[in-house]
Amino acid sequence: MRKILIIGIGAGNPEHITIQAINALQRVAVLFITDKGADKDELARLRRDICARYVPDGRHRTVEIADPARDRNPSDYRAAVETWHQQRANLYEDLIAKQLGADECGAFLVWGDPSLYDSTIRIIAEIAARGSVAIEYEVIPGITSIQALTARHGIPLNQIGEPVQITTGRRLAEDSMGPASDVVVMLDGDCAFNTVPDDAAVEIYWGAYLGTPDEILLSGKLRDTAAAIERTRADARRRKGWIMDTYLLRKPAAPRR
Ligand SMILES: C[S@@+](CC[C@H](N)C(=O)[O-])C[C@H]1O[C@@H](n2cnc3c(N)ncnc32)[C@H](O)[C@@H]1O
Repeated sequence: MRKILIIGIGAGNPEHITIQAINALQRVAVLFITDKGADKDELARLRRDICARYVPDGRHRTVEIADPARDRNPSDYRAAVETWHQQRANLYEDLIAKQLGADECGAFLVWGDPSLYDSTIRIIAEIAARGSVAIEYEVIPGITSIQALTARHGIPLNQIGEPVQITTGRRLAEDSMGPASDVVVMLDGDCAFNTVPDDAAVEIYWGAYLGTPDEILLSGKLRDTAAAIERTRADARRRKGWIMDTYLLRKPAAPRR
């Protein structure tokens, strides 16, 4: 049966790749590389560097996949994402059938860890469930951008015995921090930290291009640091043409009765 490996490659630093991932890469006959568009050329290059470092030369074929275009401002966000997933499932299914031999092993390299804000597992699981092309799949975990963020700031992710919420910029803008004391925000194109009600206790730990030579770290009280982060982010984005940033908002956890 065809085997698909979904391999987490870490969030930017090629040294964050695990030994399990390196061993998995040795088994691969076909690497399926998804193209994120011209503005993310540098990400494609980082991915290629990882392959060059860890995938033995000449033992695999590479298949580039141009992802279907996605509506970025749909009226129904969930429905638009669902349609996009179906289109990708059709495309991936077709490529797996045509490009991977019946007993060969193929791999999708996923930024960070495949379980976190990434649809590859869902799409491959959908293809497996359809059964038109018989596949089995395995997930190899990777270092997430959240781990890269907390490690570089030298902080624990959680306060003692406290939960941590992981959300998107869109949802932070809608829900704010609520009762949560620790909120990790990803996929934020609009500096949604500016929507958090003013509170002297809230701190922010921000990181962009984590793990790469262009990494930028800023931290401090949100009310004192927000403007500097917004400025730094805009400058970096202008300079490089793209940005990936993640941050943790933290306030002291309320005492429990
Ligand atoms: C589609 S999600 C993928 C997350 C990924 N699977 C992970 O484990 O980190 C993309 C978001 O991850 C965050 N991200 C990924 N890599 C990053 C990096 N090197 N530096 C800062 N943020 C990063 C950003 O919030 C970005 O918008």
